[in-house]
Amino acid sequence: MTRSYITTPIYYVNAAPHLGHAHTTVMADILKRHRLMRGLDVFLSTGTDEHGQKNQEAAAKSGLSESDYLAAQSAEFQRAFDQLGVAYDFFVRTTRPFHKEQVQRIETLLQDRGLLIRKPYRGLYCAGCEQFKKDSDLTEDGYCLEHPNLKAEATDENNYFLVIEPYRARLIAHIEAHPDWVQPAQYRHELLAMLAHPLEDLCISRPKSRVALGVELPFDPDFVTYVWFDALINYITNIGWPDPAFAEWWAVSEHLIGKDILKTHGVFWPIILMAIDLPLPGRLSVHGHWLGAGGQKMSKSLGNVVDPFEVMAVYGASALRYYLARNMRVASDSQISVDLIKAAYNTELANKLGNLLQRLIKFSAARFDGRLPSPGALDPADAAAVAVALDKVRAAHAHLDLATIPQALALIVEAADFLNEYVTREAPWTLIKTEGALPRVHGIVYAGLDGLRLLLEGLWPVMPVVANQGLAMLGVPEITLDAGAHDFVAGRLPQGHEIGEIATLFPRVET
Ligand code: MSP
Repeated sequence: MTRSYITTPIYYVNAAPHLGHAHTTVMADILKRHRLMRGLDVFLSTGTDEHGQKNQEAAAKSGLSESDYLAAQSAEFQRAFDQLGVAYDFFVRTTRPFHKEQVQRIETLLQDRGLLIRKPYRGLYCAGCEQFKKDSDLTEDGYCLEHPNLKAEATDENNYFLVIEPYRARLIAHIEAHPDWVQPAQYRHELLAMLAHPLEDLCISRPKSRVALGVELPFDPDFVTYVWFDALINYITNIGWPDPAFAEWWAVSEHLIGKDILKTHGVFWPIILMAIDLPLPGRLSVHGHWLGAGGQKMSKSLGNVVDPFEVMAVYGASALRYYLARNMRVASDSQISVDLIKAAYNTELANKLGNLLQRLIKFSAARFDGRLPSPGALDPADAAAVAVALDKVRAAHAHLDLATIPQALALIVEAADFLNEYVTREAPWTLIKTEGALPRVHGIVYAGLDGLRLLLEGLWPVMPVVANQGLAMLGVPEITLDAGAHDFVAGRLPQGHEIGEIATLFPRVET
């Protein structure tokens, strides 16, 4: 494979960007940067989902015009992702004309093929999920399980429906024939369970009398498109469908999603694609959710909300990205709090990485005449230390996908521990007092710094800004988005390079 198309969900703009949005988008960016380092061409799309009932209600409350509200909120998401250092290639707003035209094109296609039916619908709707619900999806008193503060609303209206049951067997066959299509495996089982019973028709419209913010149905101006139907289509309009060239990216597509939207992506979306004779997405990579301190869902009333902007203001974007990447679990939920971020920042980033750099580079500047060590060829013991770091970084980058990001970081932390122990044990600051030991002292410091240089390169996908700051201090070329394939090799630390200003990569934060 030489290309990869990575997508994030597109986010509702009815509220400010939160940690969950930051999470999926940062993971997508990490995978993108990793794949660039492996020499792939990568296209990363993200953006905002700007139609539907809850966006409409939020816009109405805002006091702004609808289009100003949507633009301002979408800009907030873009600002969040920019501040997080996400190198997206395309930021979609579903209100853009091209997208809306293609949604209508698909609807016309379905209508012309006789695949849509119009019929009354009586049922319950959760505006939080923007989905129709069955009684079994709700609490006894009618509240949504995903949105416990929202009572599902009774609806009784005509709508257009896509009959999806005829595609169920084909979808099951696809999932069974492609065991990696949904990852990790537990979500594959969940999906198969969702497909174990006949599927109800998929409602693709909303009467304008109820929701006006949406893409008008091309064949019935009294209706707009159901927000999920429109939103999912972003994945192909972002890469130019119906231009046939879209297929090159589509064939290598991977949707990153939280577990909350498995059904829309694993059932509805593939069936919509089947109905218009398009291939299914390449892969669904699913992750669990972040919970607040105490393992409860983050909520303002519990006071356990972690605001990505606040965390970035105190610890920086790199530290937030690191925490998310190191601690998320795809198959279960994970906890996050400002205290946990602080602990990870101090123990791992400041103490293990920052300190290693500080003590070695300061020693080198003081003892080697303002320069990096110049040992010539390394003593085998020192070369072996670099080799340990090299092995671990290579292993971390060998099989990186959404599920293994935390394991990759664990390997890099192990390598940092190893290098710290190595320089502590070899104690160049003591050895330098022994006559004739200077060449070896150069070798130890070199091995420590060259090993650290490898770790910083390995960390670039996760913490691009700080990794590059560290590399610049070590006189090593920064890694850029257009650098192409990256080889991890020993010995790239430039011997005798003049050391410039020494900055602290992870300054202590005492809040
Ligand atoms: N607009 C739809 C998605 C349409 S995609 C064609 C939507 N938007 S959302 O704003 O509610 O975002 C949902 C996504 O945000 C989740 O699938 C997940 O990627 C992310 N997260 C939201 N809360 C989360 C956590 N608490 N933890 C981790 N990620 C979560 O659904």
